[in-house]
Amino acid sequence: MKVTIDNITIDVEPGTTIMNAARQIGPHIAPPAMCYYEPLKASGGKCRGCLVKVTAGSEKDPRPMPKLVPSCITQVQDGMIVENTINEQVLETRKGIVEFLLLNHPLDCPVCDQAGECHLQDFSFEHGVSKTRTVEERNTFEPVDLGPYIKLNMNRCILCYRCVYTADQITDGRVHGVMHRGDHAEISTYIEKAIDNDFSGNVIDVCPVGALTDKTYRFKSRVWFSKPEDASCSCGKCSGKVTLWYRGDEVIRVTARKNEWGEVKEFICNTCRFERKKTSDWTLEGPTKIARNSVISANKYGASTIKPAFPLQQAAEQYKKIDDSRDRSFLAPQKQLN
Ligand code: SF4
Ligand code: FES
Repeated sequence: MKVTIDNITIDVEPGTTIMNAARQIGPHIAPPAMCYYEPLKASGGKCRGCLVKVTAGSEKDPRPMPKLVPSCITQVQDGMIVENTINEQVLETRKGIVEFLLLNHPLDCPVCDQAGECHLQDFSFEHGVSKTRTVEERNTFEPVDLGPYIKLNMNRCILCYRCVYTADQITDGRVHGVMHRGDHAEISTYIEKAIDNDFSGNVIDVCPVGALTDKTYRFKSRVWFSKPEDASCSCGKCSGKVTLWYRGDEVIRVTARKNEWGEVKEFICNTCRFERKKTSDWTLEGPTKIARNSVISANKYGASTIKPAFPLQQAAEQYKKIDDSRDRSFLAPQKQLN
């Protein structure tokens, strides 16, 4: 099927979603995804971060779709025309989505272990606005231990359901889920039962924010001070393909490897993740490829603030206007301004 996204036309297989068609074109065209996760069946359709405008539904019926559609769950039709980065309405809506996602999410990036690899941080940096309009108190929850390895900070959860699908699809017997509805909804285990199966640690990797964190790594380092290396071992339970995160010579964290969309392709077991923390446990394969625009490799946030428009706009919004309307007639004519 032919689909045109932001004026670029490609051929894709029938059944491809707009999101995956855009990903085939490249990262500059792909819509942001906070809940969609390709390896997890049924993921997507929750966060609305990926909304796009369909300006022509198909060749047979070229009428535009009346509302923006979630690109992660909408399949392409032959001759469909989609606008993502070039559509004002889409960009304006994304600002609103960021605002909704941040209604209850704390702005605690300086102390959050996910900072630097948080999809919400990237999403709000790329699509949000730099100020908040809300004065209401945020929903707050006490942090909860989900077994020996995982900490849940529900305050940061955006209810994307990725961890629920992960537990459903790669482990036997899920013991956690989304309880309650509306603004009472929360991720929880039944009577705080420990998540203790061999693959439970993967919920940490799929969480787009810092709601589920690795207790063996918490507060050890900022991610941009660590050095990732691909490594492998012959593990009987999983593929044994991991990323080791070094601080100096010390392995401070082990994660599954992620692709360019931040998605794990091969989930790893808890033994590899939590118990193999020595270089001698692994065969090193070389430095992990990190996207150039990632804060891990490029000081992204620092570099971007030097864009001239950003500080000027900040200054204009935050500083009081100088009131220069006073009577100047007392000044000598040569000293009068304006
Ligand atoms: S804990 Fe993380 S992965 Fe689970 S629903 Fe919340 S944000 Fe998503
Ligand atoms: S990524 Fe499509 S709705 Fe969340």
